[in-house]
Amino acid sequence: MSEQIFNPNPEFAKDAAINSMDAYWELQNKAIEDYEGYWKGFADEKIDWIEPYDTVLDESNAPFYKWFSNGKLNVSNQCIDRHLADKADQDAIVFEGDKGDVQNITYAQLSERTNKMANLLKNKFGVKKGDRVVLYMPMIPEAAYAMLACTRIGAIHSIVFGGFSAEALKDRIEDAEAKVVITADGAFRKGKPYMLKNVVDDALSQGGESIESVLVVKRNNEEITWVEGRDHNYNELITEESAECPFEPMESEDPLFLLYTSGSTGKPKGVQHSTAGYILWAQMTMEWVFDLRQNDVYWCTADIGWITGHTYIVYGPLAAGGTTVMFEGVPTYPDAGRAWKMVQDHNITQFYTAPTAIRLLHKTGEDEPKKYDLSKLRVLGTVGEPIDPPAWKWYYEVVGNSKCAIVDTYWQTETGGHMISPLPGATPIKPACATFALPGIMAEIIEEDGTPTPVGEKGFMCITKPWPSMIRTIWNDPERFKKSYFGDCKKDGEPVYFTGDGAMIAEDGYITITGRTDDVINVSGHRMGTAEVEAAIKKHDSVAAVAVVGKPHEIKGEGIFAYIVLKCVDDACEDLKIEINKVIKKEIGAIALCDAIAFVPDVPKTRSGKIMRRILRSIVKGEAITQDTSTLEDPSIVGAIEKIVKEA
Ligand code: WTA
Repeated sequence: MSEQIFNPNPEFAKDAAINSMDAYWELQNKAIEDYEGYWKGFADEKIDWIEPYDTVLDESNAPFYKWFSNGKLNVSNQCIDRHLADKADQDAIVFEGDKGDVQNITYAQLSERTNKMANLLKNKFGVKKGDRVVLYMPMIPEAAYAMLACTRIGAIHSIVFGGFSAEALKDRIEDAEAKVVITADGAFRKGKPYMLKNVVDDALSQGGESIESVLVVKRNNEEITWVEGRDHNYNELITEESAECPFEPMESEDPLFLLYTSGSTGKPKGVQHSTAGYILWAQMTMEWVFDLRQNDVYWCTADIGWITGHTYIVYGPLAAGGTTVMFEGVPTYPDAGRAWKMVQDHNITQFYTAPTAIRLLHKTGEDEPKKYDLSKLRVLGTVGEPIDPPAWKWYYEVVGNSKCAIVDTYWQTETGGHMISPLPGATPIKPACATFALPGIMAEIIEEDGTPTPVGEKGFMCITKPWPSMIRTIWNDPERFKKSYFGDCKKDGEPVYFTGDGAMIAEDGYITITGRTDDVINVSGHRMGTAEVEAAIKKHDSVAAVAVVGKPHEIKGEGIFAYIVLKCVDDACEDLKIEINKVIKKEIGAIALCDAIAFVPDVPKTRSGKIMRRILRSIVKGEAITQDTSTLEDPSIVGAIEKIVKEA
């Protein structure tokens, strides 16, 4: 099946934004020949500039690149105001609650609510340009209003995924020195209320002293504790605000938002995105990769706490003037047909989700899609991890009825938008293959010294020229930014951006992503740093040493497997495993729980003390150990661990 090729549906390609490989190459060649001219053309065409920029790309302080310097724009204008002339009554957001309640929010209503929220932040809480605002929100429309309200007044939002613990939330608040938290009492999941505000309370009781105000949206109306003077009721206060709030002219390079993500070492890093470059590429990829057209209804199932939710639920679709669906619940509740029922009910034309969700929907309801009218679907998307061919095939044949294009979009929090992906009206698709770099993106698979990796072999996935939506720095840590992304690979002697992923190129130029080359685990498409999980586990008193690795998992892609050395061997028992997971839940959140724990006498270390994770990965996969173990402090440990894991 891997060599099967699926050509774009000719019917569909006729009207597609990029409708042939010739059209693709025309764009890509233009970018190769005149890189700045290429980007200038799109920046001039797509962005509603308040003041023009004076340079397209400033490379004088590499790798701190600047795009469209000194231009002025505002992202909430780009996403809302400029559409009001012809789209005031079009749905901007279609919200479906967990229990099936639906809200249609037009561009006019989105404008009104965003402006009111912006006024509230500005007038009531004194939020100014450059201030940081943390969002700890469920998937409700107010989350989008809050994001857009921040961009309107020039505040920098930092969204913390609702599955993170109080401890993790506190760390992120402190790193960003945020002034305000916007949250909700809670929301609904699988028919039941769950709570968020209590987590904010816990976080702020442990620290987060920069926070002056907490704005609380009432969603599930469950009882919550209230700190007078600090906590404020959104639903009451918002009625007092005016629906007119002029947008702040922002410089192209002003930070738009921070989003914390895991790296291979240390604590999570605050990825900082810019204003102009980010929104330009969010909009362009929305138009190209999803081929967004008038009257389309587009649904991305991500959570706004991740980059996919930022770029492809809120900023991309709205900048492109589309209709974006937001869903509070989970796609398998009340049954495995929920997602397909929603596709039918809302006439969804593009559906974007993660391989883990595809595998789950496949497993729990193989024939479920056939019960619904999915005929409006044109494009199916996947993101977050390599998709396996069986899941791809089911997605293509059963969900897409062998008519839809599948866009396997490869990108990262740091890239801001898609980097490598098929174009639905142009690219002949190979299953489970990200295919080609998008026009304008210079993606190369190379060795550390910049030589191209031979065809069919695994190399480093690098982006060798700066692009507009790239990460600008790590908040408060420019050195770490340089080291994390521009330290490993060079081309022509100059450092280039290395993604942390491995990839292979085929004879015909098709690119397949092979996965992380560093110590990052991809659990259900969520990035978890091994160092972060290990630091949490070490907080348990009984633990002397720990090494975690990813273990292949049928639904999640990878699960977390921990090798733990105890201070006292006699402590080893099932209850201790439960206790250790409790610590992880407290320190990071339920998303980082271990699937399995093995108590081992030691972990394999070199004489200099470096843990040999590769050996531990091989053991957990049941693979033969091919690595040289002679450099280990104690080579006999490998056999001992293998025996324990086999027996467990
Ligand atoms: C992985 C998510 C294979 C990759 C947008 C990357 C993928 C990490 C794909 C980024 C894909 C994302 N095929 N692997 N289509 N998309 N990845 O920052 O390892 O949460 O480095 O951004 O997910 O995860 P992040």
